[in-house]
Parts: sequence; structure tokens; C-alpha cells
Amino acid sequence: MAVHGAKMAIVTGGARGIGRAICLALARQGFAVAPVDVLEDELQQTASEIRSLGVDAMPLDSDVSDYGDVHEKARDIIRRRGRIDVLVNNAAMPQTKRILEITEADWDREMAVNLKGCFNWSHAVAPQMVAQGAGRIINISSVSANHGPSPTGVSRFAYAAAKAGVLGLTRGLAVELAPHVLVNAICPGPIETERTRATFAPNRDQLTRSILVGRIGTPEDVAVVASFLACAEPLFMTGEVIDVDGGAFIN
Ligand SMILES: NC(=O)c1ccc[n+]([C@@H]2O[C@H](COP(=O)([O-])OP(=O)(O)OC[C@H]3O[C@@H](n4cnc5c(N)ncnc54)[C@H](O)[C@@H]3O)[C@@H](O)[C@H]2O)c1
Repeated sequence: MAVHGAKMAIVTGGARGIGRAICLALARQGFAVAPVDVLEDELQQTASEIRSLGVDAMPLDSDVSDYGDVHEKARDIIRRRGRIDVLVNNAAMPQTKRILEITEADWDREMAVNLKGCFNWSHAVAPQMVAQGAGRIINISSVSANHGPSPTGVSRFAYAAAKAGVLGLTRGLAVELAPHVLVNAICPGPIETERTRATFAPNRDQLTRSILVGRIGTPEDVAVVASFLACAEPLFMTGEVIDVDGGAFIN
């Protein structure tokens, strides 16, 4: 795998969890990284960890569902850095309500963050990537997109619907942005993060037994695959979906 020079990567939801691990993995590959998040303190912490790896960090306090702000932030990066090489659409929020409990506002917010957020950032960076004649977009979906909500209740149908939408977006953009901009998706299975730890706790043994590799995943398990999709040269893949679930589901 060739290592890029000081190229620019944007990682939404980069303040903690899987997004933070992806930021650090890309920083180790030499990318300047712009983590995007709404958690200000964690965002600054991730930015200083990125800088401690010897590359630039541009922390962006921004809500992925805000079309205008996303486009302004993308323009700012292009003005300051001159290019955008990698976009990782990772920001998302869970939705634990069932159909009998959920409100219209809950549904709209889930779609606005988990699906429209991916559209907003892709729409903001695609013209620059096309103009460069190169770019990689990596969308973080979920095994829930194909297999339905998790039995642990960490997220239910609205989340699964948004994540299935992310796979449609991935395949559609792969077609439209070919041949130079490659668009792929990752479907993580159970990954232990600050968000999921408490939810997994009561079912930990059962959950672990359901995973062929015999353990719950870590953010780094996802980051290593995101880093591959961002850095591998050549990469003869676009519109693909990679499950990172330790063999919890075999397709
Ligand atoms: N952890 C798992 O088991 C698991 C499984 C499948 C898929 N995923 C997916 O992986 C990704 C990361 O999950 P995680 O477990 O690290 O979650 P997390 O909650 O720890 O991290 C998500 C990050 O996104 C940020 N975010 C949320 N809404 C935002 C918004 N509107 N604008 C900007 N940032 C926002 C959060 O502040 C947070 O820092 C998500 O897309 C999630 O759906 C996770």
C-alpha cells in the first residue's frame, strides 16, 4: 500500500469512537485531518492527538445536518488547503425508539443526521474531487442496513432505514463520480465505543459468542479498513460494501 503525502482528509463524527480512531489512522498515514463534530471538548482533544502524530488538524465544530454550514466549512478547507482527498462520512446518532413510540421529529432528525449528513458533505466535496481528478469517499453504514436492528436494542428500525439509505447513496455516487472518485462503504458490526459500552454490557457474553472471531470489535478494527479504502494504491473498488463484524454475519 502506497502512503499519501500531506493530503487532506475530512472525518465527520471525528471527536470520539470510531471516527476518532479513523482520524488517528489517517494521521498516521500522513494526512492532515479535519475532524467534524458537535462535541467541542472531545473535538479539541482529538485534534491535539492528531497534531501529536506530526500532521495538521483542522477541527470543525459543525452539525452534519446543516447544509449551509457544511458547504461553508468545505469551502474554508479548500481555501486553506487547496484540496480534499478523502471524506469519511461517519457521524450518526442512534435511535432506540420502536414504531409505536417514535415521533415524526425523531424520524426527521435521524434521517437529517444519519443520511442527509452524508449527502451534505458528499455534495460539498464532490466538485473539488472531480476537479482534482481524484478522491475517496468512505461511508460508515452498519450491518443493520442489511440485517435489521441489533438484538441489543442499541438502535432500531429508523436507524436501520437511514443506514440502508447510506448504502444506496454509496452505490449511486460510485456510478456518478466514476472513474476518478471512488466511493465505498463499511458496515461495522458490534464495536465497543463510549456510546455502545453500556448497551452491550448486559448481553456481553451472548454477543461475544455470536461473533466468529470471538470478541467484540474495537474502533481500530473499523479504522484499519477505512484507512485501506483511503490509502490503497491502486484501488480497483468502487460502490463496494465491506462488513467489519468479525464474522457475526456471513453474507
Ligand atoms: N459502535 C458500533 O457498534 C457501530 C455499529 C455499526 C455502525 N456504527 C456506525 O459507526 C459510526 C460511529 O459510531 P460510534 O459508535 O463511534 O458512535 P459515537 O456516538 O461514539 O460517535 C459518533 C460521533 O458523531 C458525532 N455526531 C453525532 N451527530 C452529529 C452531527 N449532527 N453533526 C456532527 N457530528 C455528529 C457524535 O458527537 C460522535 O462524536 C456511526 O455512523 C455508527 O452508526 C457503529
